[in-house]
Amino acid sequence: MPVAYTEKFRPQFHFSPEANWMNDPNGMVYFNGEYHLFYQYHPCDTIWGPMHWGHAVSKDLIHWEHYPVALSPDENGMIFSGSAVVDWNNTTGFFPDEPGLVAIYTSADTYPDSDRPRQRQSIAYSRDNGRTWVKYEGNPVLSDVDRTDYRDPKVFFHEETGKWVMVLATGQSVTIYTSPNLIDWAFESEFGSKAGSHEGVWECPDLFKLSVDGNAGKQKWVLLVSIGDNPELEEGSRTQYFIGEFDGSVFVNDNSDDTVHWLDYGRDNYAGVSWSDIPDHDGRRIYIGWMSNWRYANQLPTKEWRSAMTLPRELSLYTGVNGVQLSQKPAAEIKEFRKKEHTYSEMTLLSNTEKVFTMPSPLLEVTAEIEKKDAGVFGICIQNANQEKTAILYNAGKGMLSVDRTNAGESSFSESFPSIQTAILELENNRLKLQILIDASSIEVFANGGKTAFTSLLFPNHPYEEIVLFSNEGSTAVKSFKLTELDSIWK
Ligand code: FRU
Repeated sequence: MPVAYTEKFRPQFHFSPEANWMNDPNGMVYFNGEYHLFYQYHPCDTIWGPMHWGHAVSKDLIHWEHYPVALSPDENGMIFSGSAVVDWNNTTGFFPDEPGLVAIYTSADTYPDSDRPRQRQSIAYSRDNGRTWVKYEGNPVLSDVDRTDYRDPKVFFHEETGKWVMVLATGQSVTIYTSPNLIDWAFESEFGSKAGSHEGVWECPDLFKLSVDGNAGKQKWVLLVSIGDNPELEEGSRTQYFIGEFDGSVFVNDNSDDTVHWLDYGRDNYAGVSWSDIPDHDGRRIYIGWMSNWRYANQLPTKEWRSAMTLPRELSLYTGVNGVQLSQKPAAEIKEFRKKEHTYSEMTLLSNTEKVFTMPSPLLEVTAEIEKKDAGVFGICIQNANQEKTAILYNAGKGMLSVDRTNAGESSFSESFPSIQTAILELENNRLKLQILIDASSIEVFANGGKTAFTSLLFPNHPYEEIVLFSNEGSTAVKSFKLTELDSIWK
């Protein structure tokens, strides 16, 4: 049992390293009954620095056991982001006896005799369930002297063509390579230099197939692309996605170049990718993101450690007004940390009134279904005696859902932190459905079944104690309201 995890702001049901700096999730793979989570890690400091891969293992996606650093910098440089796969058929030749794991990552250094960054792709393998790793002697396996931003390989096996596919972030595009053996890579195509958002450098792509509307006969490919911080925009770093077709070589976007789909409307979900090798009988596409933002990640007001991951989430596709879109919900396994439920009966809130409830626990899941009636603005607020509060509010006139953390708690570390995050959202049958997860320093809001998500860090100086339902400029009917106490995963 770790001694840590009782510090101020320490996430209680999200993954965070015992100590020191963490950024992107890396190398997520399921193998022999274990979910592996590697991550960008600085083992000696709480700010970004020489990157290693930290490592944690879970049997249920919820409780994590920390393992020693898996990959450390070497003669090819630091270990930047990447992925891991199971080599079931020994395509590499590394596994004569039984299948094992291969990590594909970016080796980052500078060109000899110059300051110019050099990013090349390397591999390492493990024959003991990810506990120890051997770097391939022929590293790096993929390089390109013309490209400076050339990183974050995400690899999967494409059944139809029988080849490994790599999606790589290449500046303002994603480049696709294929390989028979994870060692020899061939260029296939480049996507996106004119599509989607180019407000920051493209990073951490992922490409996978999902059923549309739960119909296995209709599938689409999803391409996730994180885009780096742009000091001119208030959002900082964030993640977009594309929907399209993929034939093992070329990704074709279903939408026009100027269509931009955002994965999350909160500020703090970046560089997320999905687990590899989830068994077919499970069939889910499970995702986790880094719950931070490059705008202020290095300044967050925590001492012993810095950063946490989002909850693991199940991704799916639905057909909406803007075509096929991605939705997300917390992985079913979060039932592991649900405790006592408090269910309230239906209530009506007249114009400009509120109903205040004492939070039964500072770690809380809120589920609510609110019917608009004639209200102009309505929602839910959490607050403490220090006058710190975070509001989730729906503006009926604008058709807009927001998370307001302008006065949520500690924010002196960055001018960009206090913010109102917004998303256009249509009510369904005049109702707003919310699932909200409140941890010691974050809130995750899933609206209308996860069609719209907000992930937001919050640093209340004292835990929030009250939860308020409010209705302004007209009335609302709260059809259902439930508070579920949540447990720490670190006990
Ligand atoms: C994304 C990123 C990646 C890179 C890593 C370095 O957050 O910038 O592109 O591999 O972080 O830590």
